[in-house]
Amino acid sequence: MWKSIQPAPPDSILGLTDEFRKDKNPEKVNLGVGVYKDENGSTPILRCVKAAEEELVKIEKTKSYLPISGDPVYAAAVQRLILGESSDVIKDGRVVTAHAPGGTCALRVGADLIRKFNPVAKLWVSSPTWANHNGIFGAAGYEIKQYGYYNPQNRDLDFDLLMNDLLKVPAGDVVVLHACCHNPSGVDLTNGQWQQVAELAARTGWIPFLDFAYQGFGDGVDEDRFAVEQFAAAGIDCYVASSFSKNFGLYNERAGAITVITPSADEATVAMSHLKTVVRTNYSNPPAHGALVASLILNQSELRTVWLEELADMRERIKNMRKSLVQGLNAQGVDGDFSFIEKQRGMFSFSGWSDDVVAKLRKDDSIYVVGGGRINLAGLTRSNIEYVCAAVAKAMK
Ligand code: LMR
Repeated sequence: MWKSIQPAPPDSILGLTDEFRKDKNPEKVNLGVGVYKDENGSTPILRCVKAAEEELVKIEKTKSYLPISGDPVYAAAVQRLILGESSDVIKDGRVVTAHAPGGTCALRVGADLIRKFNPVAKLWVSSPTWANHNGIFGAAGYEIKQYGYYNPQNRDLDFDLLMNDLLKVPAGDVVVLHACCHNPSGVDLTNGQWQQVAELAARTGWIPFLDFAYQGFGDGVDEDRFAVEQFAAAGIDCYVASSFSKNFGLYNERAGAITVITPSADEATVAMSHLKTVVRTNYSNPPAHGALVASLILNQSELRTVWLEELADMRERIKNMRKSLVQGLNAQGVDGDFSFIEKQRGMFSFSGWSDDVVAKLRKDDSIYVVGGGRINLAGLTRSNIEYVCAAVAKAMK
């Protein structure tokens, strides 16, 4: 069969890391994939994760299957994390969570669940969005549409366009929203704007599906859940895909969750029964290790305190790198106002570097940037920032 088939193109983000690994230039810099790096350029295991793993080794008694929806203690911890400890939605029992292998599976399971009962629903993503949204939702069979989001002229959110577009989305269609730290632009809605979008969803009947992969990378774990709280309070169906790759550094453990919020506890019970059938026919039941680690950390106050400190360190280092990048580009005399980089949030910045500049950076200086100019700020360190800024100055001449 394969004789007549053309190879698929490499993945626009993970494919870049493959190329980076092969690059022999000792000064190479990977600003591509969204993986946190510390000041030494490495991605260490968080201290709280190491401690939880040691404890897990001691207390774990079996490797037997988890339930289809995963570990219930983990699911409850995820709900408290994404909705807040005193959430009415939790008290009222109108939320269910299935532990999923990473944010990607959480998105796919949620997408399959909705499509099972509404096969004509279209799915709307922001323009631009994480490249893999198109892949995941396309593979789930959705027709994908775009709503306005980013304005490249002022490098900011085009909120009027977003509201106009979302006003026209038919009831029953699915709208994917980045709960915080928009990927790839780094441009988020204000709290007031989130309230307006949640009201619009309740009024018009489209279904919000929040991708929540960067909780804690914006302003903090509690602050970053504002959008989720608004949709939960609206009393409508709502979906949340969580990833713990970034905020727990559990990238290769694939720890995530899909949460379904409904207007009543009875509906939540029905949703969970179908969620289980979707999981069962995809991967049967989830892998345990990463989720059990996250669960231990979330449920033990000492580990949780260490986690929040480590998360704050990651967030602050990225913010500092934003400042240093702006200063470095200015010091190199690069034409333009780069102050917008400091206003963006999360791991990424839409740098505004053209595809031509991106290509030159890679070819001439082994600096890897995702097409469209998205850079991962965490790839910058005190030791490579001058090299990167000088290379940008050269490439933009
Ligand atoms: C990214 O956007 O770089 C990350 O979410 C990693 C990925 O899977 O694309």
